[in-house]
Amino acid sequence: MASESGKLWGGRFVGAVDPIMEKFNASIAYDRQLWEVDVQGSKAYSRGLQKAGLLTKAEMDKILQGLDKVAEEWAQGTFKLNPNDEDIHTANERRLKELIGETAGKLHTGRSRNDQVVTDLRLWMRQNCSTLSGLLRELIRTMVDRAEAERDILFPGYTHLQRAQPIRWSHWILSHAVALTRDSERLLQVQKRINVLPLGSGAIAGNPLGVDRELLRTELKFGAITLNSMDATSERDFVAEFLFWASLCMTHLSRMAEDLILYGTKEFSFVQLSDAYSTGSSLMPQKKNPDSLELIRSKAGRVFGRCAGLLMTLKGLPSTYNKDLQEDKEAVFEVSDTMGAVLQVATGVISTLQIHRENMVQALSPDMLATDLAYYLVRKGMPFRQAHEASGKAVFMAETKGVPLNQLSLKELQTISPLFAGDVSQVWDYGHSVEQYAALGGTARSSVDWQISQVRALLRAQQA
Ligand code: ARG
Repeated sequence: MASESGKLWGGRFVGAVDPIMEKFNASIAYDRQLWEVDVQGSKAYSRGLQKAGLLTKAEMDKILQGLDKVAEEWAQGTFKLNPNDEDIHTANERRLKELIGETAGKLHTGRSRNDQVVTDLRLWMRQNCSTLSGLLRELIRTMVDRAEAERDILFPGYTHLQRAQPIRWSHWILSHAVALTRDSERLLQVQKRINVLPLGSGAIAGNPLGVDRELLRTELKFGAITLNSMDATSERDFVAEFLFWASLCMTHLSRMAEDLILYGTKEFSFVQLSDAYSTGSSLMPQKKNPDSLELIRSKAGRVFGRCAGLLMTLKGLPSTYNKDLQEDKEAVFEVSDTMGAVLQVATGVISTLQIHRENMVQALSPDMLATDLAYYLVRKGMPFRQAHEASGKAVFMAETKGVPLNQLSLKELQTISPLFAGDVSQVWDYGHSVEQYAALGGTARSSVDWQISQVRALLRAQQA
């Protein structure tokens, strides 16, 4: 340690720091989560120092052993924090000195907390992205399995929250799963940009002591090294990208949650959430509330807030490291925890959800086939615009008569167009309806099967 105050930067400071300021400045309460990657980074750095001739082999070994002991204390929960431990970097180095003596003072040679903290954060996030990727793929897999098992169940598809066209229940599941595959792919891309080594950038100007950054890169298994020390110590693009990834993923999950909340109401009665993911009301005994889905929906707000907050922090910062950047970690930790929980709860909800297939089919109504009625005329040669109008007339006629669209007689239909014939009865079959939508991406069985195989192939490729 540099001074009696026990501060890393204590040398030129004489007065005491206001205790409120001390607390305000400290990040140890949350960055202690970085203990393991901090040790990992320091071990690699001491190897770099040894290669550069700044540590003897014996000194390096002493430091490495000391660092292992520090890690062991953290792992066993016996690491004792001092009131002066401002952050994890300070704490680990302080403890190292207690364990091995003055040699510890050589570890930070040519290094700054500016390159150290960003190296730690990248290491932590790299690992965390792998965890989140696994959870996200697990959710997608659960959805695809369900889509495969239930692909012959039909129910209403909605636009503007109005009944639009009959679709397969699986088509709905896949609509959300496909959105999540983009999130899954995006996370892997973000992880690739996280996986770049900043260590060896020093405080701002670089490393003057001949530390081999390529060695550091190999030691820490980074994919590349940062190009510019000023940029490396102060850019947090990878954090912003991660928070945006989470925001978009939450957008998708909140939309799925909202659909399921609606489908679970008495009014829809298409699905029923399992007890494991709902709660009762303290007042109304009959209630079963979809809390899991509501919380997924609401966590989206928290995550967007963190993303917007970090961008605010970054905007207009003067070159290079400023203490403002300390704020990045709480955002990353909170969003990582939230995403981990949300993805697991969503997987649980989907895998245990009950569906009421009879209610789903019963919710289909002949008016939802008006588009197909127009296509019927199109197949008989009528231009689509005219066919649309003719079908609209049929809808109007049925409404005026107070009967369902499929109850109009052939004679009545023929007053609208002579192209209507006996085979029009086929149009009123919902199964026949969905099978028409066989172009890739549509709701026909063949197309749904194709979607399932495509998503499965994507998952396999992403796992490789
Ligand atoms: N706790 C600090 C952070 O999280 C570490 C870097 C401090 N650097 C400095 N120049 N004060 O950003």
